[in-house]
Amino acid sequence: MSKIILTGDRPTGKLHVGHYVGSLRRRVQLQNSGEYDKIFIMIADAQALTDNADNPEKVRQNIIEVALDYLSCGLDPARSTLLIQSQIPELAELSFYYMNLVTVSRLQRNPTVKAEIQMRNFEASIPVGFFTYPISQAADITAFKATTVPVGDDQLPMIEQCREIVRRFNFIYGDTLVEPEALIPENEACCRLPGTDGKAKMSKSLNNCIYLSDSADQVWDKIRNNMFTDPNHLKVTDPGSLEGNVAFTYLDAFCRDEHFERYLPEYANLDELKGHYQRGGLGDMKVKKFLNAVMQEELEPIRNRRKELAGRIPEVYDILKAGSEKAREEAARTVDEVKAAMKINYFEDENLIREQAEKYAAESV
Ligand code: TRP
Repeated sequence: MSKIILTGDRPTGKLHVGHYVGSLRRRVQLQNSGEYDKIFIMIADAQALTDNADNPEKVRQNIIEVALDYLSCGLDPARSTLLIQSQIPELAELSFYYMNLVTVSRLQRNPTVKAEIQMRNFEASIPVGFFTYPISQAADITAFKATTVPVGDDQLPMIEQCREIVRRFNFIYGDTLVEPEALIPENEACCRLPGTDGKAKMSKSLNNCIYLSDSADQVWDKIRNNMFTDPNHLKVTDPGSLEGNVAFTYLDAFCRDEHFERYLPEYANLDELKGHYQRGGLGDMKVKKFLNAVMQEELEPIRNRRKELAGRIPEVYDILKAGSEKAREEAARTVDEVKAAMKINYFEDENLIREQAEKYAAESV
């Protein structure tokens, strides 16, 4: 069986380093591994509209931001198909049929939807489209016969719900759809990179994000002035705590042994640095400077590519258009199979027409 990746992001803002360590970096590795037959990366604008119906301009403006982030991180349109969800009407068609396979109470139990409803204070007024987006996400995944869905662990309930839909569809209508597997980051810090303030996940409204598009100065400013460490670590000589210490969480996500050789050769690896911090005698500023060096090394080429691509916006749209067209062909093939399995492909079904013609012919004699 071929190995196919599908994953995506809602275009509601520029992508930040949480997206990067949680998914973008991995996608590029998967792309470059050559192990996958097809890779689809979706800008999920229709999903973004499920809770932004009154603000389509926000979604519209952010499509290019996400596309620039993708390309600057190393997603290569020659190897990965980049597509815009709303341009594939077949996804809506699949969702329409999958809706019959899911109960309201099952959707209400989806932990991700539950948490998101709470976060948005939607309790009494959930848009139906938002409530049912796990179904539409199952359409996204199955339209491309994805076997592998690289996502953050917050998306696991979505993948589980998709697998249930696939099993139910195949049980009722015969083997048609492919049951996908989630692929989550192996490193815990990458699953849940906190905001620079340490309080929560990175979020634009909390103003605690480091964006892939931030300048070198902005990155250093956010590390130096906003990044939460250990509030009780007042003097360099004090022992420091790693618990909730964002600088160390970011090091867990970004730093490799080779960075010590380059920027902090007195230590062999992160464990030694952590040990010294906990014993006392290591100042926050030294840790932050090291983190800055490590992060700048990774972010600088991305930032430069982004700047270069930003000068070629029409070309980026051409990439999205070509990707969406290619994706649409794939999805259309799946819809044909789905309709055949569901026996709603009347005009292609010669048996149906012949049988009914014969039945009426027999009745009339
Ligand atoms: N729900 C995902 C998110 O919020 C985005 C998404 C839409 C997605 N469709 C998908 C992810 C299909 C994986 C597969 O990040």
